[in-house]
Amino acid sequence: MKEEITMKRKKEWFDDDSFWQDLYPFMFPEKRFASSPGEIEKVLALTKPGGKAALDLCCGPGRCAVPLARAGFTVTGVDRTTFLLDKARDRARTQRVSVEWIQMDMRDFVREGAFDLALSMFGSFGYFDDKSEDLLVLRNVFTSLKPGGAFLVELMGKERLAKIFQATTSDVLPDGTKLVQRHEILDDWTRIRNEWILIRKGKAKSFEFHHTVYSGQEIRDRMTHVGFTEVELFGSFDGDCYGVGAQRLIAVARKAGCS
Ligand SMILES: C[S@@+](CC[C@H](N)C(=O)[O-])C[C@H]1O[C@@H](n2cnc3c(N)ncnc32)[C@H](O)[C@@H]1O
Repeated sequence: MKEEITMKRKKEWFDDDSFWQDLYPFMFPEKRFASSPGEIEKVLALTKPGGKAALDLCCGPGRCAVPLARAGFTVTGVDRTTFLLDKARDRARTQRVSVEWIQMDMRDFVREGAFDLALSMFGSFGYFDDKSEDLLVLRNVFTSLKPGGAFLVELMGKERLAKIFQATTSDVLPDGTKLVQRHEILDDWTRIRNEWILIRKGKAKSFEFHHTVYSGQEIRDRMTHVGFTEVELFGSFDGDCYGVGAQRLIAVARKAGCS
């Protein structure tokens, strides 16, 4: 079934496993894993789930799924990338927790009324050229939550991006690799195209990816459009308001409970 659906879709940048593999050391340095348990504690304080069944959508290497399982949750991690799911399995094994790992596109995963909490962490939303597919993902999550369930999405918001936008930046990473980033805003400030050029030992390799950028209001509108109620916006995991100083856009949406 999954293969049938995948074959009908055109290949997009996130379907290239080597993208995730080559960028793994830069996206997922050990310090990012080290901060995850504390982040998950804050996520739980913001979402206050009524039960212990959790979905980590686009779970990647298990950065959030594993600490959630350690916190006593029954966790399902969904991701399309073999390389990252293998990393996630290793991490769960090392930390002696059990997680249900599912290799599936986020557009296809639905499990009706199964979860008290769903997460989409670290910019895992807004990938599709066809924006109605982002709505499909939101609808799938809505269906997959129990009444009263909460969904937290964490992104860089459009407001923050507009404030810090630079067409070209360059950095030297801790291992000496040079990273040049080029960015272009497209389609009336709805999408961004990024090029990352990694220069290592005099050799350059370029990666391109593009995604939709959501403002606080836009993500709230889409969440309410698919049926969520009580959408709250935060600017950090500490629960700061989504104001001028916001580093991140965190939207917490709730599915109405039984009346
Ligand atoms: C930036 S990483 C974030 C990983 C994880 N959420 C975290 O917080 O560490 C984005 C993840 O989305 C996954 N992904 C990208 N497109 C996907 C799709 N269409 N369906 C399912 N997973 C996808 C990638 O494999 C990757 O693990």
